[in-house]
Amino acid sequence: MSDLKYALIGCGRISQYHLAAALENGLKVEALCDIYPPAMDVLAEEAGLSQVRKYTDHREMLEKEDLDLVAITTKSSLHAATALDCIRKGVHVIIEKPLALSLADADEIIKESAAYNVKVCSCHQNRFNKPIQKLRSAVEGGDFGKLLYASATIRWSRSEAYYKQAAWRGTWAEDGGTLMNQCVHNIDLLRWMMGNEITEVFAYTDQLVHDYIEGEDFGIALIKFANGSYGVLEGTSDIYEDDLEETLSIFGTQGTVQIGGKSLNLFEHWQFKDSVEELASLQEKYGESPRNIYGFGHLPLYADMIAAIRDNRKPYIDAVDGRNAIELILAIYKSSAEGKPVKLPIKDVATLDFVGRF
Ligand SMILES: NC(=O)c1ccc[n+]([C@@H]2O[C@H](COP(=O)([O-])OP(=O)(O)OC[C@H]3O[C@@H](n4cnc5c(N)ncnc54)[C@H](O)[C@@H]3O)[C@@H](O)[C@H]2O)c1
Repeated sequence: MSDLKYALIGCGRISQYHLAAALENGLKVEALCDIYPPAMDVLAEEAGLSQVRKYTDHREMLEKEDLDLVAITTKSSLHAATALDCIRKGVHVIIEKPLALSLADADEIIKESAAYNVKVCSCHQNRFNKPIQKLRSAVEGGDFGKLLYASATIRWSRSEAYYKQAAWRGTWAEDGGTLMNQCVHNIDLLRWMMGNEITEVFAYTDQLVHDYIEGEDFGIALIKFANGSYGVLEGTSDIYEDDLEETLSIFGTQGTVQIGGKSLNLFEHWQFKDSVEELASLQEKYGESPRNIYGFGHLPLYADMIAAIRDNRKPYIDAVDGRNAIELILAIYKSSAEGKPVKLPIKDVATLDFVGRF
């Protein structure tokens, strides 16, 4: 349990997972905020929070409420500015992915959160998937020997109806393409598992099916890590006619792991030189069957953030992690736009730089 006072900004499709995680972790839900009042009413009613205070302006909410922790689940273009308003009021924040749509905004979040001594959690909840946690312990234990390469695959399907649910989807100003929206979780995992430090990226992106959006619906990239290993990324929202898989494979001199399923929930291969663990028992112990691709990760992510605030430590997934994921995506965008490899780190790149690309 926790006595932290909590509010949620943005009561759309993903918000119910945040509110459920907040309630299950014992947070005191003080207020909801959305520019569209019916969205707040539905969310509050479904959560049994009919008395919760409701605001249509987050700045007014920050003035009137005495909050400890806020979750930002608005459209992606508002994450950074809204987070900075919270941070400058001394309020800790959980920011839905992607952290921001520009590196300048991500850097501002990192700088201001340090200045105001505020914790920022970037919502990459798949890091808490049970098979991913098990894989992470093998990576941290050095079980792979020398890391050789990793492959991240997101073969998903998004229909015209999905993109037309809201005007922000698929636009450069407010969302980005499928790599920034759907694929950002596995891109985060790929970078994190392979040591975070990238020297170079070469990529192709394209718009193969969804010609009514602005961003890419297909991307392939080759990544060179500073530790001498490589990454291969393939991400799309074009698969006919349903989500096929989200898979992460890691290959080392002494180990091979593949985690797949619809959204990284299932061990498909697990083999180490010194390991006696059988795939079948691992699948039983760590396999998950979530009812949708969002998984179960919001709950432990909230528990970790609450503990980070209580113990005054870094959250498990912080703003630097969120920045790492978007830096890799923006480097992919830059490489594909320029038709040549891009060296990292990159500076001052934003989704808006790619307006008119397709
Ligand atoms: N972690 C995940 O797995 C995951 C899954 C889905 C979505 N997301 C992310 O969550 C965010 C929201 O996605 P969604 O699918 O819920 O979108 P959505 O369009 O369904 O919901 C966004 C909500 O924000 C509200 N809003 C817009 N402007 C606002 C403002 N100024 N103040 C307050 N509220 C405002 C809208 O009225 C809407 O209710 C996106 O950034 C998306 O990338 C993350």
